Amino acid sequence: MRAQFDMALDAMHATFAAVPALREFSPLPAGSRFVERLPKAVPVVPQFERCTLTPVPEADALFRAARALAPHVQWYQGYTEEKAGRDFARNAGYFELLGVDGHFNAPGLSAFLLYLGPNLHYRRHWHEAEELYYIIAGEAYFQVDGEETPSLLRPGDSRFHASFQPHQTMTGPQGILCLVLWRGAGLNGPLEMETAPGA
Ligand SMILES: [Fe+2]
Repeated sequence: MRAQFDMALDAMHATFAAVPALREFSPLPAGSRFVERLPKAVPVVPQFERCTLTPVPEADALFRAARALAPHVQWYQGYTEEKAGRDFARNAGYFELLGVDGHFNAPGLSAFLLYLGPNLHYRRHWHEAEELYYIIAGEAYFQVDGEETPSLLRPGDSRFHASFQPHQTMTGPQGILCLVLWRGAGLNGPLEMETAPGA
């Protein structure tokens, strides 16, 4: 199993080497340390394992590594079902491959693999850490407060969110897998989400 984690880390290094936007956001910390963590599942994992997404070539190895690791990592959703709603709880999940709480411990940068199922609205949310989304596979509309129209992001596209800048995402008919990077203050800080209509 450790070998599959190492393959995933190698794959992330390869994606960083191939994608300037990732390196410009932050270099990958050298010398990260593997931490034994018990697997933790969320409901979306089987959906991710059987999804038919096609990854961008620069992240093909990372996509395959993320799928191979899916039964072995600690998945999270970031919110309670009461807060985020049933649809989100069934169709969203992420794991921290590298970072302060990651399977590889490293300071200064956190790297998450985030899967969102088809036609899912990830409502307005915000957090202290600065963020870069990189679309590995699938398509989704992204919108920050103040933008009149959302932007469609495709595999290979990236998107920056400033500290505490509210942002939201609506996935397309195939869902998405993203590499999400956090830097700066608040690396293990909370996620805040607006209350669901009617909640
Ligand atoms: Fe975010």
